[in-house]
This record gives sequence, C-alpha cells and structure tokens, in this order.
Amino acid sequence: EDDRISRISSSIRVIPDFPKPGIMFHDITTMLLNPVAFKDTIDLFIERYKDKNISVVAGVEARGFIFGPPIALAIGAKFVPMRKPSKLPGAVISEEYSLEYGSDIMEMHVGAVEAGERTLVIDDLIATGGTLEAAIKLLERVGANIVECACVIELRDLKLLERGSEQFSKSTRENAVKLGCSSTCV
Ligand code: PRP
Ligand code: MG
Repeated sequence: EDDRISRISSSIRVIPDFPKPGIMFHDITTMLLNPVAFKDTIDLFIERYKDKNISVVAGVEARGFIFGPPIALAIGAKFVPMRKPSKLPGAVISEEYSLEYGSDIMEMHVGAVEAGERTLVIDDLIATGGTLEAAIKLLERVGANIVECACVIELRDLKLLERGSEQFSKSTRENAVKLGCSSTCV
C-alpha cells in the first residue's frame, strides 16, 4: 500500500507559480501518462468503496470526471457529473461557492440522484474544501446520503488558509478521504 501511495505521489507533477504567482499547481496529467500509477489510484478507491452499497459516484468538473467514472463502473454505481454553470441541458439545481478570488457555480441535473441514494463524491484535490463543500450542499439538497468525499491530493499550504477559509470548510477538509500523497501534499 505504501508502495502504491509513493508511486502515485511521485507521478504527480508540481508546477510552481501556475496559474498565478505563489500557487503550486499539482498536475495529475503526468499521473495519467503512467498507467501503473493511474491504476493504483483507481484501485485504492475501488478497494475502499466496493462493498459499501454506493449507487452514485458524483464527480466534480473537470478533474473529478477523470477519476469518478472508472470507480463508478468498477463498483456498479451510476456516475453523476457536477458541472460548471450553463453546461447541462436539462433542468438543474445550482449552488454558488467561493473560490480564492471571486465565486463560481456548480450545477447538477434534477433527477440524477434520488433521495436516500448512497453517494460518493470524487475530485482530484482538496485545497480550501470550498468545491467539495458545494458538491455536498447540492447533493444534500436532493436528499442524497453522502457516504464519503474522496480526493487524490490534499493541499494545505495555500495562503488562503491563513485568511480564515479553513474555518469555512474545516469539517469538509477533516472528513474528506485523501489518498495521502505526502511528498506532494504538505
Ligand atoms: C481545482 C481542483 C478542485 C478544486 C479544489 O479545480 O480540481 O476541484 O480546485 O479547490 P478548493 O478545495 O479550494 O475548492 P478548478 O476549480 O481549478 O477547476 P478544474 O478542475 O476544472 O481544472
Ligand atoms: Mg477541479
């Protein structure tokens, strides 16, 4: 297991000052170039979630769309995309959330998740937790039973955390499951 975590961790490229000065960008596209590390990542999630009666895997656009579907297929759950605004063609419910600068909106199709469905939320990375928190709020509004939120990377070193946003989504951060790539995530 430690072998897998370190393989995953070393497959993630860190690019300083992208997209803005001071941001350490954790680039999972280099993991996708390494089929062993990518499979290790998906397998760790499958092992954790396969016997949990999960019927919905909700993935957050864009990078949650990479990790969510293979997990959903493997555990026999449906995949529900949580999208950026004005992308979904059907009736949607929306949730506004804060980003480091400004805000964004997340949307989900009405009817995609039914009340009481056991739901797993997937994204690539948690920084402030604002994105996962918006996903949780949207899903809870339709009565989903959220089993867990999971991501590959936890980032703790954003200046943002010093400004109090950690308070804002502290429980999301604490409750999220991270694969724990310790060399890339301090
Ligand atoms: C990144 C990342 C997470 C989110 C984490 O997505 O993929 O979804 O930020 O940040 P938070 O915990 O502070 O909310 P981004 O909004 O950059 O978009 P993308 O996935 O579409 O590239
Ligand atoms: Mg994202």
